[in-house]
Amino acid sequence: MLELRLAPEARPLKGQHFSAEDATANTRIFRVYRWDPDQGKNPRIDSYEVDLDNCGPMVLDAIIKIKNEIDPSLTFRRSCREGICGSCAMNIDGTNTLACTKPIREIKGDVRINPLPHLEVVKDLVPDMSHFYAQYASIKPWIRTQSVPLPDKERLQSHDDRDKLDGLYECILCACCSTSCPSYWWNGDRYLGPAILLQAYRWLVDSRDEVTGERLDELDDPFRLYRCHTIMNCTATCPKGLNPAKAIAETKKMLLARSGI
Ligand code: SF4
Ligand code: SF4
Ligand code: FES
Repeated sequence: MLELRLAPEARPLKGQHFSAEDATANTRIFRVYRWDPDQGKNPRIDSYEVDLDNCGPMVLDAIIKIKNEIDPSLTFRRSCREGICGSCAMNIDGTNTLACTKPIREIKGDVRINPLPHLEVVKDLVPDMSHFYAQYASIKPWIRTQSVPLPDKERLQSHDDRDKLDGLYECILCACCSTSCPSYWWNGDRYLGPAILLQAYRWLVDSRDEVTGERLDELDDPFRLYRCHTIMNCTATCPKGLNPAKAIAETKKMLLARSGI
């Protein structure tokens, strides 16, 4: 039987425990992944007791409280605190999601927090997004045209054509979906993954874009597109309620229609 285990140096060890000064009935333990590349040691899981009576309702509120009041060395990304920037994506209680929109009350027992899976870790909860962003750039995510626009006229779009972008433009590139996708875990070097493919589809269906054929040519590849095996983890985990698996299926349909099969 195949046994999948982390290399010994990557296995998280038990870390420090930070007790609350005055534990109350509403004190919860947050178990947080810690790793500092400068220390040359295994990752560890530190645990922090947090009094939820003196904390905001979201997991990000607790992490910020930990950093501000208990352990300033804890490292993570965040910006908007309202599910718009995508920077606080992490694995909470076993699911990839946004810390700023994940209510603590939805989690039973200790709150386990890890970085997004299957990305290199920069430090603690900060994953290296370089490859993900390079893949995003590779699909040329902007309107590409061949016609020469009139100098005093915008490129207009009907209401019906604009509606086709709903469920796509809302993507905040948090990578929760791609890092939950087994195909992306194993082939992320060549498979674009659900987030980037949803973005690619967003430009395929934009009525103002004029290089649909070229975009389809760039996707028509056994690895870039066809590593999706419809496992659906991506759609189940998207914190914005989007459906990358459907966008991928629609892209495959466009390629099929073009081939005339
Ligand atoms: S549907 Fe495709 S992209 Fe989504 S998790 Fe499954 S294999 Fe990955
Ligand atoms: S589709 Fe959803 S999970 Fe994936 S990157 Fe966009 S917002 Fe995040
Ligand atoms: S802080 Fe911006 S999405 Fe969470």
